[in-house]
Amino acid sequence: MAKLIITIDGPAASGKSTVARLLAEKLGASFLDTGAMYRAVTLAAIRANVDMTDEDDLLEVMATTEFQFSAGQGKMAVCIDGIDVTEQIRQPQVTASARHVAASAKLREKLVEMQRQFAAGEEKIVTEGRDQGTVAFPNADMKFYLTADPSERARRRQAELRAKGDIESLEQIQGAIEQRDKSDEGRAAGPLRPANDAIVVDTTDLSVEEVVARLLRCVEEKCQTKD
Ligand code: C5P
Repeated sequence: MAKLIITIDGPAASGKSTVARLLAEKLGASFLDTGAMYRAVTLAAIRANVDMTDEDDLLEVMATTEFQFSAGQGKMAVCIDGIDVTEQIRQPQVTASARHVAASAKLREKLVEMQRQFAAGEEKIVTEGRDQGTVAFPNADMKFYLTADPSERARRRQAELRAKGDIESLEQIQGAIEQRDKSDEGRAAGPLRPANDAIVVDTTDLSVEEVVARLLRCVEEKCQTKD
């Protein structure tokens, strides 16, 4: 297992990915975007044209597909059966359907296993998702939970979409975010919630740089007390 494991959990568009990536850079650590794993399985299932609500069908897709996750430039590179799908897993249809994969306890177990295997090969890792501090790495060195008001998260997501040329109304985006929060918080397996020992950071009024600096300070303080 990695010598330093930092988990960052939180709801959709709370800034986890950006912050985790920048924090990893500052610490010389690897970065694991576990949402990309849920998205990859979802995309493979969509392409296989299976019933997304049938757990056995989803398990079959997972068993018969080769997934590759590697730390790319600025984001995780994802391949399905040798084909790069890093961009395709961000499509709105994948975002909307990922909840079916996320709701399956058996699929989650397999994905958590893959996450632990990934961590086992790294010296230091910053991993982000919904259940990293609670389920995947309960003994992590440091756990964070990032949150922000839904309206601010919608605003951030809209800016991200605009940069890609996608125009969606704030109401639409906030509605979709709140729906995802509900399904992430409400599922029985690996629900979204802060670990008991997580540091909760409300990022509503903070810039990315401020959040990264705050987290970095916490990590440095923890490392000093450990030495
Ligand atoms: O973080 P991202 O939006 O890419 O995650 C896609 C979906 O995967 C989320 O909506 C969530 O339901 C699911 N997910 C999860 N557990 C994780 C990471 C993501 O259930 N550790």
